[in-house]
Amino acid sequence: MTQPPASETEVTPPALWLREVDVDRSSTPVLRGLSWQVRAGERWALLGPNGSGKTTIVQLASGYLHPTRGVVEILGQKLGRVDVRALRRRVAVVSASVARMVHPWLSALEVVVPAEDGALEPWWRDYGPSDWQQGRELLGAAGFAHIADRAFGRLSEGERQQVLLARALMCSPGLVLLDEPCAGLDMGGRERLLSRLSSVAELGSSPPVVMVTHHVEEIPAGFTHVLLLRKGQVMAAGPLAETLSPRTLSECFGLPLTLQHQDGRWSSRMART
Ligand SMILES: Nc1ncnc2c1ncn2[C@@H]1O[C@H](COP(=O)(O)OP(=O)(O)O)[C@@H](O)[C@H]1O
Ligand SMILES: [Mg+2]
Repeated sequence: MTQPPASETEVTPPALWLREVDVDRSSTPVLRGLSWQVRAGERWALLGPNGSGKTTIVQLASGYLHPTRGVVEILGQKLGRVDVRALRRRVAVVSASVARMVHPWLSALEVVVPAEDGALEPWWRDYGPSDWQQGRELLGAAGFAHIADRAFGRLSEGERQQVLLARALMCSPGLVLLDEPCAGLDMGGRERLLSRLSSVAELGSSPPVVMVTHHVEEIPAGFTHVLLLRKGQVMAAGPLAETLSPRTLSECFGLPLTLQHQDGRWSSRMART
């Protein structure tokens, strides 16, 4: 009998695989016994109160932090056994700490294009016309072609987040991590960013995405899964429709909450007692 081609038998590893992960910081436990998988085609919302360990998970998932105990596997590579610099190039991060590292005098386009090399500045290599074109197209696809030549430091918060998202997509990542991308945005900025994330989600070729948020209102339409984190432990994780409920949400945030779901979006407020 002939063997099927290797490509058919190979199983794609999860984009992210955490196994029994503990993280201690300054000898204080921050994450405890965390096991979680993010697979191709999945888009996760990571919800939890302040201090529950969400940013710590983003740091693990991007190879910037090693677990105290347990195993972290990113794009099939085990942390601790792999050149993290090469790995980091394949994991795109949108976060306040990335925004802080960007030189404010660079144009929006000069912030987007060097992501191809995992760089923050454009002067380490001569980018070709097709690179600049791709950067312009990514900004254009979000409806932000008009800001391509404006200085990053002079953009509104909402425009900056769009630039960082275009930057994240520029490197054809295997995994996209967004840490509170809507923080500080006004309604228009938030809705435009969520709408862009939903359109990215609709592309068949889109990479798995993990988006950290405090608010169910910020879960973009088209997201598939949710992980609820409380005090460094997984409280619930799975497909959104099955996992997100008034009970799990109330337990996660420690107060009685209602939950509504309409047109692919969620909303919540405190329940009347
Ligand atoms: N470098 C650090 N040293 C000590 N404690 C830290 C450090 N970074 C984060 N923590 C603590 O770890 C916990 C989780 O932090 P974090 O992952 O930033 O939470 P979240 O993003 O959910 O708000 C918090 O209690 C925070 O104070
Ligand atoms: Mg955080």
